Amino acid sequence: MTNAVKLGFGPLSAPAKGSLVVFCDDGLKFGPATRKLIGAAADLVQRAAKSERFTGKAGSSLDLIHPEGLKVARLLVAGIGKRSELKDFVRLGGAVMGKLPKAASEATFVAELPDGPLDAQQAADLAQGARLRAYAFDRYKTRRTNDDAKGDKRSLTVAVADVAAARRAYGAREAVIDGVLMARDLVNEPANVLYPAEFARRTGVLRKAGVAVEVFDVKAMEKLGMNALLGVGQGSAHGSRMVVMRWNGGKKGEAPVAFIGKGVCFDTGGISIKPAASMEDMKGDMAGAACVVGLMQALAARKARVNAVGLVGLVENMPDGNAQRPGDIVKSMSGQTIEIINTDAEGRLVLADVVWYAAQRFKPKFMIDLATLTGAIIVALGQEYAGMFANNDELSARLTTAGEETGEKVWRMPLAAEYDKMIDSKFADVKNTGGSRWGGAITAAQFIKRFVDDKIPWAHLDIAGTGFDSRQNDVNRSWGSGWGVRLLDRLVTDHYER
Ligand code: BES
Ligand code: MN
Ligand code: ZN
Repeated sequence: MTNAVKLGFGPLSAPAKGSLVVFCDDGLKFGPATRKLIGAAADLVQRAAKSERFTGKAGSSLDLIHPEGLKVARLLVAGIGKRSELKDFVRLGGAVMGKLPKAASEATFVAELPDGPLDAQQAADLAQGARLRAYAFDRYKTRRTNDDAKGDKRSLTVAVADVAAARRAYGAREAVIDGVLMARDLVNEPANVLYPAEFARRTGVLRKAGVAVEVFDVKAMEKLGMNALLGVGQGSAHGSRMVVMRWNGGKKGEAPVAFIGKGVCFDTGGISIKPAASMEDMKGDMAGAACVVGLMQALAARKARVNAVGLVGLVENMPDGNAQRPGDIVKSMSGQTIEIINTDAEGRLVLADVVWYAAQRFKPKFMIDLATLTGAIIVALGQEYAGMFANNDELSARLTTAGEETGEKVWRMPLAAEYDKMIDSKFADVKNTGGSRWGGAITAAQFIKRFVDDKIPWAHLDIAGTGFDSRQNDVNRSWGSGWGVRLLDRLVTDHYER
């Protein structure tokens, strides 16, 4: 993994080396252990705060280099604002990690607020946030900038009241962060390296955690009749793949929960080719599949007591002499025929076959698909919320709650017969676009719904706006976000573990 942080927990009283990070509220108040640690530098902090007009507002900080009276190289005072308004400790950990220059190779976070030490879960969240923020994808940089730590090795100690309890709490969530970072690695990887066969090969590491991994090549999918998926990949020099991952941590024989990911390793648009601007972003058109892989890795590594399956459809959408044409009609695995109107509406074609296959083979308790499916969802929701479509209110409510809890938020969008009509085809059972740009995310969801058995609770998450992001945020300074791994792990934890 790129840019790993060595993370440990220690007692609140331990002397710190390197950078010392402490928290204060908007009254510049510190907790008792923190006051003790700062000790001789307390007066210096007060004076520095005054001249910097630092008041402890949330998100603000005061940075003191080699503060007189302390042995540390740096004292970073981080403002939390009003204690009552602070809830998300993952975000706090990330924000504070972001304040430290990468050259600060050794740091201690004092997990204490003015009203006392963080509990074990909060301290573990702080540590998770720091790891998320520390991740960088710099595998292809051969020259280091000044800001980079030598060898990229950073160590972080979180000083807590109860070391054993914090270690336990963190241990239970560590695998989830590993899963997020694995998903980010996949999203960030360029498409000349990560084509369908290579993506499939990389899922092989999940076997080490006890996941059964099956890879289907073109021939195997031809046998299954997955012509909707195969049509998308037929213009590429790289053959398509499907990967099925199974984790059985639940009761023997109990129906699994199912996660399905769109894995378009690169989306040129095909014959309906995209314009050049930002086309490079389409290396991330497999963010749904990356999330499913990261999630399966997380569930297995933390030995989640659930039966779960993850399926990803892997293709490359290219224009070529053998590429699919607008007007072509393909027969999907379900038997329904599809008229291709626009070869750039390819994700739904991939999902049609994989969703159908997942339902037939596994009869899951529910199905959730994730896909960077439409530009239209970005127009609707921007990059803050993913679009959610569901045929089931309970599943929808649970996802909404898990989203609020993790900060990976979803906003429910409508499904309705009037939208469904828009994808009726003159020549086949269904066509792959709604014919106009209006409601583009909805007609895409309606398309997938035609391949879903309504007896199975199903949710479709359109993550075109959240799967990757050029802006930095508190928990991610890379591009691929690994969005969805924490959300879906939380959903499983809250409702589906025995
Ligand atoms: N992968 C794109 C959607 C996308 C766009 C994801 C921007 C992330 C960022 C998808 O395959 C696509 O091209 N959708 C078309 C559908 C249209 C042709 C009906 C779109 O949204 O324009
Ligand atoms: Mn497309
Ligand atoms: Zn696409």
